[in-house]
Amino acid sequence: MRVLTGIQSSGKPHLGNIIGAVLPALADGQQSGNPAFHFIADLHSLTTSREGALRRENTSSVAAAWLAFGCDPNKDVLYRQSRAPAVTELTWYLSCFTPDGLLARAHSFKDKSSNLSDVNAGLFIYPVLMAADILLYQASRIPVGKDQKQHIEITRDIAKVFNNHYGQTFVLPEPVIREEIMTIPGLDGRKMSKSYNNYIDIFQSDKGLKQVICRIVTDSTPVNEPKNPDQCSVFALYRAVASEQETVDMREQYLAGRIGYGAAKDQLYKMLLSKFGDQRERYSTLMSRPKIIEEALQAGETKARAVAQETIVAVRDHLGF
Ligand code: TYM
Repeated sequence: MRVLTGIQSSGKPHLGNIIGAVLPALADGQQSGNPAFHFIADLHSLTTSREGALRRENTSSVAAAWLAFGCDPNKDVLYRQSRAPAVTELTWYLSCFTPDGLLARAHSFKDKSSNLSDVNAGLFIYPVLMAADILLYQASRIPVGKDQKQHIEITRDIAKVFNNHYGQTFVLPEPVIREEIMTIPGLDGRKMSKSYNNYIDIFQSDKGLKQVICRIVTDSTPVNEPKNPDQCSVFALYRAVASEQETVDMREQYLAGRIGYGAAKDQLYKMLLSKFGDQRERYSTLMSRPKIIEEALQAGETKARAVAQETIVAVRDHLGF
């Protein structure tokens, strides 16, 4: 059983990435007893961002986040997607087995293409590159946020077509989605996302973090009146990080009107500082030591390329290349 997941380097890793992917992938990887594959989807980031220097910086940030949260480069496989280039070759092969209607129906394509002035073909075949990411490494469990579920279904569809035609070649992957979390809201209540610019960067300074939390949009219920926790982004974010008991206590305070939004934001801020204090410290140490990040990545890339090679050789053979 192989656990695999990736995060784009189109921006700094945010709280949604950490809760939706990093924490569950690290936990699932540990449970599996096998090396987990954690990668930085730098090729995917080219669909929306073209600045090389910025990509390099964001790639380091995402790698540092994986390491800060406990990815062990001696056990797990941490790598840049682009450094195992067989993935682009497999993308081409798989794209020839993918009905274009399947891609036209992808939510992410519909969402992103309606927001962008420049809709490139890369954005359209994005799910095929993602399928190649997963199938190349024969991964079976893919911890992701809810927004990626459809991409994994597309991956399964493509793999089935290929397997039916050529015999068992690819493992069929399954999404691993924590139902109680699913989608972490951003500052404006929509899904937290780099593209909506509504995200919380948990690695920024204390002051910056506090300011960002103050910007979370709430309704205008007065301080002493009961509030609906299930319609409040502050509560949703608190719940995503807090223990069960802490969540029950906060819910009670909301329902009884014993807490105002300002105080709830303050509690959220303090909780983020206390739960992620060690990771924040490790992240900033790593960011000042790029050599450590680079060594971890290169070690992972050697292992990733070896696994990729086995799959791509088998695929070429089936296809007559
Ligand atoms: P990306 O970079 O948009 O997000 C990385 C991971 O974070 C999760 N996530 C969230 N989870 C909960 N709430 C949110 N608001 C939230 N925002 C982001 C995403 O669901 C994802 O798990 N295409 C992928 C990257 C990718 C990948 C892969 C993932 C490329 N190849 C292969 C898994 C397997 C993406 O753009 O994720």
